Amino acid sequence: MPRKIAAGNWKMHGDGASLAEIDALLDAQPAPGVDIVICPPATLIHRMASHIGARPIAVGGQSCHAAAKGAHTGDIAASMLVEAGATHVILGHSERRADHGESDAMIRAQVETALAAGLNVILCVGETEAQYKAGITQDIVSDQLAQALPQTDMPARITIAYEPVWAIGTGLVPQDHEIAAVHATIRAISLRAFGTAGAEVAILYGGSVKPENAAAIFAIANVDGALVGGASLSAAAFSPIIAALANA
Ligand code: 13P
Repeated sequence: MPRKIAAGNWKMHGDGASLAEIDALLDAQPAPGVDIVICPPATLIHRMASHIGARPIAVGGQSCHAAAKGAHTGDIAASMLVEAGATHVILGHSERRADHGESDAMIRAQVETALAAGLNVILCVGETEAQYKAGITQDIVSDQLAQALPQTDMPARITIAYEPVWAIGTGLVPQDHEIAAVHATIRAISLRAFGTAGAEVAILYGGSVKPENAAAIFAIANVDGALVGGASLSAAAFSPIIAALANA
């Protein structure tokens, strides 16, 4: 069985005062069997990792450059994330694809660099609203993975997140059978790419996961956790999602 993962993507939210949410999250309840990862803005990674110390929440970045280092103003190298205390990094998020023109080829190179630096990668895929309406979701996700998922002998450090672009921040969520179909396709791709180790790759759903819908989403086959945006910003909203995953 893959690990269960509850990952929070804080996007461009959060400041020093937000560290209190981490304490509240840890106080909320034990979450047996769930790996919790918080990906704050880059400016908070070091502070958050130091604040957490040995407590059981991992910290991740939200992107990294494909190059190990160099003249890339405003970018962050994978090794810098590691030095700051990150163990994970989100790559290929649709907001990076849209806002920064990141292509599948660029994302694949980022994944390779992040793995080489020792990071666990959360690789995001997902269709736009137009692609969803055109009925080509499966083709889009398969194509994104064909191009962005590298050959690697480290599949244990890869997690794949299915995030329909139209479901992010909208309150809209695909129907259960639609999530099940995409996750089954991702599982098949993972098995083809990594053999039996592909069965251990965690596949997360992301897009408007809330306390109210989390249990139903986690009951879907091949949903091993969630990548949560807005609801991960407060412990009050994120901890019931984590509890739902622990109970799934
Ligand atoms: P929301 O949970 O706010 O819809 O965001 C999902 C997301 O983009 C996580 O990466």
